[in-house]
Amino acid sequence: MKSILVTGGAGFLGSHLCERLLAEGHEVLCVDNFYTGSKSNISNLLQNPRFELLRHDITFPIYVETGQIYNLACPASPIHYQHDPVQTTKTSVHGAINVLGLAKRLGIKILQASTSEVYGDPDVHPQSEDYWGRVNPIGIRSCYDEGKRCAETLFFDYHRQCGLSIKVIRIFNTYGPRMLPNDGRVVSNFIVQALRGEPITIYGKGHQTRSFCYVDDLIGGMRRFMDSRADFIGPVNIGNPGEITILELAESVLSVVGGPSKLKFLPLPQDDPKQRKPDISVARKELQWEPKVPLKDGLRETVAYFRRTLLD
Ligand SMILES: NC(=O)c1ccc[n+]([C@@H]2O[C@H](COP(=O)([O-])OP(=O)(O)OC[C@H]3O[C@@H](n4cnc5c(N)ncnc54)[C@H](O)[C@@H]3O)[C@@H](O)[C@H]2O)c1
Repeated sequence: MKSILVTGGAGFLGSHLCERLLAEGHEVLCVDNFYTGSKSNISNLLQNPRFELLRHDITFPIYVETGQIYNLACPASPIHYQHDPVQTTKTSVHGAINVLGLAKRLGIKILQASTSEVYGDPDVHPQSEDYWGRVNPIGIRSCYDEGKRCAETLFFDYHRQCGLSIKVIRIFNTYGPRMLPNDGRVVSNFIVQALRGEPITIYGKGHQTRSFCYVDDLIGGMRRFMDSRADFIGPVNIGNPGEITILELAESVLSVVGGPSKLKFLPLPQDDPKQRKPDISVARKELQWEPKVPLKDGLRETVAYFRRTLLD
């Protein structure tokens, strides 16, 4: 196969995906505008002759030769996607149109990194793929949530209208090395605060629940999905159904890091979902996939990464 295109390949998940694809023997073309990604995320790949890097903003059309596309480009943390919300929607929507156009011209398979945020603040629990969601169309999270929903629509319409081979994965909270230290995501927030001995900031009472998937598990699911039978196009939830409260997460992080941090409670932000847990029965049945890495093990790897980078 020709090289595999990974948009957003210099980001958190993208860099792990590039690494995995190279380890499997593929050629990889990483496209990124470095909005939230960085060269340091892929510094260990730059010397690999099967790895190529192209600086490009996917809101503009892209013309390259490739055999398969993973579309991951999009800021994923609230702080970054709310910084320039119009650009966020453009990245999801114009970006999807551009990469779908490329896939159509080349007649190749394309995977969209969608998100559990398409379910919004769900009134169904846990969320299965046939749940349509409860999303505020005009709130501060809408640029991300609605952008991703529209991208899903585009993928399915390219499939229905043009016969394009698509895969739509709905990713739930994922954590691991190469998350950004100051991006407002809860796992990195807590780890950085604990490492610095600062108070651990909890929004609301900390009773809201989340589920956290370690990055290696997530990439495994994504790879399995891409190579699955042609008529299984998703959407498919990939995440860890082990549900814990934010308070429990804070305690787990503190037990791995140690140190003197205390808990500090702040008001809940607008549209913060109360519960989030994937129903992964479709992934289990269709992909024979489920997460394997226990939270404590994943936290240890992630804490080790932040210890290294914060000390640099
Ligand atoms: N990490 C998670 O828990 C999670 C959960 C759900 C969905 N996702 C999705 O997975 C994908 C990757 O997320 P991540 O956590 O690695 O985020 P990230 O911010 O680390 O990575 C996104 C990458 O896309 C790049 N990018 C942004 N806009 C671009 C543009 N216009 N053109 C080219 N590149 C652009 C950024 O520079 C960055 O390298 C995103 O699409 C995100 O929505 C992630």
